[in-house]
Amino acid sequence: MKKLMYIISSAILLVACESRTYEEISDKTPVVELVTYNKDVKPIIDANCIICHSPGNSASFQPWTSYNQVKNNIDKIIDRISRPIGDPQKMPQGGSLSPSQISTITKWKADGLIEN
Ligand code: HEC
Repeated sequence: MKKLMYIISSAILLVACESRTYEEISDKTPVVELVTYNKDVKPIIDANCIICHSPGNSASFQPWTSYNQVKNNIDKIIDRISRPIGDPQKMPQGGSLSPSQISTITKWKADGLIEN
């Protein structure tokens, strides 16, 4: 009986440790696959940037509406989205992307600016 209890409690401990380890790993590495424009970057830009960065809007001089436009300006984009909150040049204007969205865009460049 004692032995059985020992086995059961070790099993519970093992499961508890495993799930904690998994959470730690997934917190620190939110992005694991290759980042691509169509799969990962475009949805972030569409949801947060094109309301201004598209024809007819306040930042129409830089429309972030095509792969080439975003790719050719990636250094400017990474600079602006990485600025501290409160910096008047931080993008999106008046807000911020989440840390994982910022690292997705940074990783897109590191992965080679893949389109699809
Ligand atoms: C509320 C409107 C608005 C939103 C939303 C917005 N921007 Fe902007 N953005 C502007 C305006 C206006 C400018 C021009 C003034 C300036 O340079 O700060 C600008 C300028 C920029 C520039 C500099 C362009 C250049 O050639 O000098 C970059 C890069 C940029 N935005 C990226 C982004 C990204 C990426 C997003 C989304 C994450 C975003 N912006 C969201 C309004 C916006």
